[in-house]
Amino acid sequence: MSAVLRAENISYTYNPGIPGSKPAVDGVSLEIGEGEFIAVIGHTGSGKSTLIQHFNGLLRPQKGRVLFDGQDIWAKGYDLRALRFGVGLVFQYPEYQLFEETVYKDIAFGPTNMSLSEQEIHRRVLDAAGFVGAGQYLDSSPFELSGGEKRRVAIAGVLAMEPRVLILDEPAAGLDPRGKKAAFELIKNYHESKGATVIVVSHSMEDVAEYAKRVIVINRGQVFCDGSVPEVFKRARELSDIGLSIPAVTSILLRLKEGCPELNASCYDITSAADAIAAVMKERGAALC
Ligand SMILES: Nc1ncnc2c1ncn2[C@@H]1O[C@H](COP(=O)(O)OP(=O)(O)OP(=O)(O)O)[C@@H](O)[C@H]1O
Ligand SMILES: [Mg+2]
Repeated sequence: MSAVLRAENISYTYNPGIPGSKPAVDGVSLEIGEGEFIAVIGHTGSGKSTLIQHFNGLLRPQKGRVLFDGQDIWAKGYDLRALRFGVGLVFQYPEYQLFEETVYKDIAFGPTNMSLSEQEIHRRVLDAAGFVGAGQYLDSSPFELSGGEKRRVAIAGVLAMEPRVLILDEPAAGLDPRGKKAAFELIKNYHESKGATVIVVSHSMEDVAEYAKRVIVINRGQVFCDGSVPEVFKRARELSDIGLSIPAVTSILLRLKEGCPELNASCYDITSAADAIAAVMKERGAALC
């Protein structure tokens, strides 16, 4: 898998001149492969938002380099516009940035700035609206929509730019369970249908476990661990030391697995956990462990 984005030992400190200020990102090196679905997890203030803002050039590292398609994005002569069209960033609570009179115009805002034909802009708006299920209210004011609908429209505005890399900062924050699921499903659909690279920031393991393949845990501005979901969840105790918890069902399965090695502990919801336990019981023809 080729790397689409690469961070080489990057560091960033807000207000570096002030005595006692600590780096928000502290010597991070990462390689993001084309087509990956990655969750970036960490406690509040661990540096997740600061880190991802380096990936589309909103922040410039004070140390280290960021490369997109192998090119240093801060090298002299590099066209940052190409990066911003290639790497779409959905901010936390993006619905606060809706401002146009209609949903259509809001979704069209990004592609309109890309020097595309009218026809291509129209196609992209319809496509992105279809993705998020906003097709039926394109002529409505975004302010008439519910919170979850507004969030999806705001995401559509970034999808309409058809970024190869889609980064979302806490896309499920503040949504009810149905809204959360809808948001993650549409991100997954974008990932699968376009083959896009997706990076989702979250402070909740539970929310992302079902969707992400790789989890990068950030603590105090550094990469604490980086691996597949089961690899990272095996380190439950260390994660809890840094203020993160794995889903309750997964921790119960990991405990059961100690006496029952064939149990599949890579389950993150009750239904699949029940299935895993039932499978072992069937196999053993007896009560579990
Ligand atoms: N604009 C800013 N000015 C000064 N300090 C900041 C600024 N933004 C973030 N910080 C500090 O940088 C550190 C990392 O913050 P960051 O927002 O990247 O963390 P986060 O992991 O995204 O947190 P959260 O889960 O709360 O969104 C924190 O100590 C934070 O207080
Ligand atoms: Mg943040």
